[in-house]
Amino acid sequence: MTEPIRLARPDVGEAELDAIAEVVGTGQLTMGPKVEEFERAIAGTVGTAHAAVVSSGTAALHVVLLALEVGPGDEVIVPAYTFPATANVVELCGAKAILVDVDPDTFNVDVAAVAAAVTPRTRAVIAVHLFGRPVEWEALQTAIPQDIVLLEDAAGALGASYRATPCGALGVAGCLSFHPRKIVTTGEGGAVTTDEAELDAAVRRFRHHGWRTLGDMPVPGFNYRLPDLLCAIGIPQLARLEELLRARERVAGWYTERLEHHVLTPRAGDGDRHGWQAYVVQLDRRDEALEALRAGAIEAQIGTWALHRLEPYRAQGAFPGADTAFERALALPFATTTTEEEVERVADVLTSL
Ligand SMILES: Cc1ncc(COP(=O)(O)O)c(C=O)c1O
Repeated sequence: MTEPIRLARPDVGEAELDAIAEVVGTGQLTMGPKVEEFERAIAGTVGTAHAAVVSSGTAALHVVLLALEVGPGDEVIVPAYTFPATANVVELCGAKAILVDVDPDTFNVDVAAVAAAVTPRTRAVIAVHLFGRPVEWEALQTAIPQDIVLLEDAAGALGASYRATPCGALGVAGCLSFHPRKIVTTGEGGAVTTDEAELDAAVRRFRHHGWRTLGDMPVPGFNYRLPDLLCAIGIPQLARLEELLRARERVAGWYTERLEHHVLTPRAGDGDRHGWQAYVVQLDRRDEALEALRAGAIEAQIGTWALHRLEPYRAQGAFPGADTAFERALALPFATTTTEEEVERVADVLTSL
């Protein structure tokens, strides 16, 4: 029988088991020292003054908008091709998510389209480093008025950098995810990185019921905390970030070598480092390719979603770049532990379509 190839595989093992056992042994499963230790490690890695961990990447995006007091009457610009959470959090704050088209070659937001979508109601732009490819940051920064807050959805971009600056340290705040398809995982989890002390303090209030100190609650908040148990898993993962990224770079290299003359292969912009959250190619007969891969016991998946095709975001107009990406993108099996033989098997299917 042909050995199945999984779409993604988290790189966890003995170190994570030991870390969990240690926390279980202490009896302090949440709100203990591992939270602060993980937060210090994240801030150190990303190069921001602060990092606050939360229960998911979605929670990270949500608390940042709440901390910025984004609400009814406000508009927040988001790419039309992204994971729905990027836009959902805007709507759940009572603001309006304004979709803009993406460049289908890079999957990232079209800077000119962002500039054209700015209105007097625009409070923020959430730029997504999709699949780990850094956004053209300088171009974006210069295209929008300075009073608009630039935020990073860096859910898949931990380890990536734009020129020499790590993703997560480019915007007013960066939002990370530690879901198992991300390079560093805690099962579920996320973080908000920022240099702004006040924003960090507000994020911490919203993740912990709104408490400023116990008994002092200026506004209501959530329980979006990340427990010690999960922070403990993240600490040894993050310590290996460079090793994990190099392993992914090697796998990406194997794919690119075999596929670049057959399909559109992903890469970072000149001078940037890709975070390789996923390896997503583009081709015309994508659905046929998906079927052929699955027939060969190879798990593959579409890239992500064209939001204007989902119920809450219909009727915002045409987004041909997002349509192209949605119809052509194909995520291939990709993990630090992917072997060259597995890449060969995937490439054989795609090149013989
Ligand atoms: C671009 C993007 N933003 C946000 C999220 C949400 O992260 P989480 O699954 O940790 O809530 C994801 C998750 O896949 C994502 O890919």
